Amino acid sequence: MALQSSGPTLGSFRTPTRGSLLLLLLSLRWALPSTAKTAGTGQGVTTSWLQRTSWAQQPEPAVVLPRALQGTEKKACPSGKEVHTVDEGLVFYEDWELEACVSGALLAEQMNLVNALPFTNEQLAILKHKLDQLYPQGYPESLIQNLSYFFLEVTPEDIHKWNVTSLETVKSLLKVSKGRKMDPQVAALIARYVMGGGQLDKVTLDMLASFHPTYLCSLSPEHLGFVQEDVLRGVRPQDLDACHPLQMDVLYHKAHIAFRNMSGSMYFARIKPFLGGASTEDLQALIPQNVSMDMATFKRLRKEALLPLTIAEVQKLLGPNLEGLKAEEGNSPVRDWIFRQQQNDLDSLGLGLHGGIPNGYMVLDLSFREALSGVSHLVGPGSAFIMVPALLLALNLN
Ligand SMILES: *[C@@H]1O[C@H](CO)[C@@H](O)[C@H](O)[C@H]1NC(C)=O
Ligand SMILES: *[C@@H]1O[C@H](CO)[C@@H](O)[C@H](O)[C@H]1NC(C)=O
Ligand SMILES: *[C@@H]1O[C@H](CO)[C@@H](O)[C@H](O)[C@H]1NC(C)=O
Ligand SMILES: *[C@@H]1O[C@H](CO)[C@@H](O)[C@H](O)[C@H]1NC(C)=O
Repeated sequence: MALQSSGPTLGSFRTPTRGSLLLLLLSLRWALPSTAKTAGTGQGVTTSWLQRTSWAQQPEPAVVLPRALQGTEKKACPSGKEVHTVDEGLVFYEDWELEACVSGALLAEQMNLVNALPFTNEQLAILKHKLDQLYPQGYPESLIQNLSYFFLEVTPEDIHKWNVTSLETVKSLLKVSKGRKMDPQVAALIARYVMGGGQLDKVTLDMLASFHPTYLCSLSPEHLGFVQEDVLRGVRPQDLDACHPLQMDVLYHKAHIAFRNMSGSMYFARIKPFLGGASTEDLQALIPQNVSMDMATFKRLRKEALLPLTIAEVQKLLGPNLEGLKAEEGNSPVRDWIFRQQQNDLDSLGLGLHGGIPNGYMVLDLSFREALSGVSHLVGPGSAFIMVPALLLALNLN
């Protein structure tokens, strides 16, 4: 039996009988109505607390040392209150008593019992603190596997220390996270699992669809191929910042197919976050749509896709946002694109862009000019102007 109210460890101190405990819980409006119905079977408390109503209302896990413990000296566990098994009596411990009397090892061993009890958020934070003290390098996988609802207490930073190799564990933690603000934790969990060589299956990918897609950049190109189209609609540009070109390729093509028969402006709004995976031809196809691409999107374009675009094409692509180029002239990929243009063509834009191929020079060696872009960054565009012809001259003399 999971719950024993007659544990030998709690002594005479306020140990409630099951009936009085339930009454108290009800009076505190903690218990669900179903608890009362099954009271006495010993299952009621367990099953209802698996739903963890208090957790559902308070999705933010505590990340700091519990307030109750701040500034208090470490006290010894009062005699008679030592804890040898996790049971209902613990719910009535003062915060400092929990800190003094409960060991992390006991919690790790009896995590299923921890999850069955109606601890307050403050108490849960103390229990988590005990576990963190025991496992400063991260929880062992045997504990992670049994975390269940306690997962709602952990932070993404905690998860980044974990090794997760079992898909069953991932699924069970996704299940408890569903419908709660656990997106960063879920992204961290998926990242750790995939980093350890874990493979996701279709069921798991479908489960992931109910979370904000910050986890996409953790997925392999193959896994990305199975991501539902609905997921793509919820993607924000910053969700894809950590993606590699191969991942962006897959995501762009998926999004392009998903959104292709939308009208021009609607299509552009949807495809925008994915344009970092677009090719030169894809970008050229957007030009006749008068999309007026914003600079934030333009900056995220793949350098290789942007470089071949002509000044006229960029002008049409950006529309009224063209003047944003000036603020970006020192940053890749705009800087690299400017380096490929003739300076007098850039001058015709009237934006004061610097760094193009000086008037009267032919394109001798683009890679050489691009290597110099580091120099121009250091000394500023003005002096690079003077240096470029001088260096080109020096090269010719060799
Ligand atoms: C996890 O739970 C299972 C069954 O509930 C139990 O056998 C196992 O010992 C637990 N693992 C740890 C580390 O507590
Ligand atoms: C995770 O695995 C690595 C490599 O096997 C190991 O060094 C590390 O201690 C493990 N961490 C945890 C928290 O189990
Ligand atoms: C897109 O095309 C499919 C068929 O190819 C059609 O069923 C769907 O209604 C179209 N959607 C829009 C928004 O036009
Ligand atoms: C784009 O703008 C040009 C000129 O302003 C116009 O002729 C053309 O019809 C526009 N195209 C679309 C798809 O709105």
